[in-house]
Amino acid sequence: MHVAITGGTGLIGSHVTQALRDRGDEVTIVSRSPDGEDTLTWDPKEPGSLILPPSITHVIHLAGAPMIGQRWTDDYKQEIRESRVKGTRTVVEAINQHGNIQHVVSASAVGYYGDRGDEALTEEAPPGDDFLANVVQDWEREACTLEGSDAVANDPALLRSGVVLHPDDGALAQMLNPFLFVKPFHWGLGGRVGDGQQFFPWVHIDDQTGAILHLLDEELSGPFNTASPGVVRNETFTDALGDALNRPTKIPVPKLALKLLYGEAATVMFDSQRVIPERLKKTGYQHRYEDIYDALNDLLAD
Ligand SMILES: NC(=O)c1ccc[n+]([C@@H]2O[C@H](COP(=O)([O-])OP(=O)(O)OC[C@H]3O[C@@H](n4cnc5c(N)ncnc54)[C@H](OP(=O)(O)O)[C@@H]3O)[C@@H](O)[C@H]2O)c1
Repeated sequence: MHVAITGGTGLIGSHVTQALRDRGDEVTIVSRSPDGEDTLTWDPKEPGSLILPPSITHVIHLAGAPMIGQRWTDDYKQEIRESRVKGTRTVVEAINQHGNIQHVVSASAVGYYGDRGDEALTEEAPPGDDFLANVVQDWEREACTLEGSDAVANDPALLRSGVVLHPDDGALAQMLNPFLFVKPFHWGLGGRVGDGQQFFPWVHIDDQTGAILHLLDEELSGPFNTASPGVVRNETFTDALGDALNRPTKIPVPKLALKLLYGEAATVMFDSQRVIPERLKKTGYQHRYEDIYDALNDLLAD
C-alpha cells in the first residue's frame, strides 16, 4: 500500500511511518513544513491545498494542534478546534478529489467521553458535553462525511486514542519533565493527582501503532478505543511510574496547582475515563501491554 499520513512528523505519526516502512509499505508524509522527498505540503485550514497523488491507496489523518503542554487560552482553544475540524475537511476534500482511496484512518480521542467517573466506556457510550468532548464530536463528524462516498472504498476508522505513552514526547514526557530541567518524579517529588481515583486511559506507543496498522490492514470502519484493556486509576499509574523510576511517589499534586499552571488543559490529567477497547478486541487486536507496570518498565528502562 502507499499511505499518505498527515501528522506523520508527530509522536504517533513518526512511529506509524517507521512501522509501515519497516514492513515495505510506501509512505508520504503530509506536513505544514515539508522536509525531504517523501513529503507533501498542505495548509490544514485551506481546503484545496492538499492534492493526493494517484499512487496513494490509503490515508491516515493525525494532524492537529497539541492538546497537552499548552495553556488553553481562548485563542488556543480555537486553534485546537479549527486545526482538527477544518484540517479534516481539507483531507476529506482531497480524498474526494482523488476518487480512489481504499481506506482511511482518522484520529479522534477519548476526550469524546468527557469526565465519566467509574462508568465503563465502550465505543457505544454516549459522548460527554465539555469543550473537548464537543471538539471531538465535530472532528469525528467531519471524517464521517466520507461515509457512503464513492471516492473511498470503505467508511473511515475513527481512532479514539487513549493517552499515548512514550518517554520523549506527549503526556508522559510532560509528567516527567514539566518545565526545563524540572523532574519531579525523578527527584521523588511526584505523586498522584488529586485523590488519584480518576481512571487514566493509557496506551503504550507500540500498541497505538499496532492498532492503527490493524485498522488499516483489516479495513475496519467506525470508532475504536485504543486504550489498553489494563486501564488503571491515577494512583496506580503513579505507583507504577515510581516503580519504573525506582523513586517514591508520596507527594500528591493538588488539582488546584495543575489548574493554575495549565488552566482547562489540566482536565486531561484529572478527568476520569474508564475506557474499554471493546471493538479492537472483537476484531482480533490483542494489546501487547495490558499491565501498566510492564508498560512503564519497558518505556523507562535505561
Ligand atoms: N498522543 C496522545 O496521547 C493522543 C491522545 C489522544 C488523541 N491524540 C490525537 O492523535 C493525533 C496525533 O497525536 P500525536 O501525539 O502524534 O500529535 P503530535 O505529536 O502533537 O503531532 C501532531 C502533528 O500535527 C501537526 N500539527 C501541529 N500543530 C498543528 C496545527 N496547529 N494545525 C495543523 N496541524 C498541526 C504537526 O505536523 P506538521 O508540523 O508536520 O504539520 C504534528 O506533527 C492528534 O490529533 C491528537 O490529538 C493523541
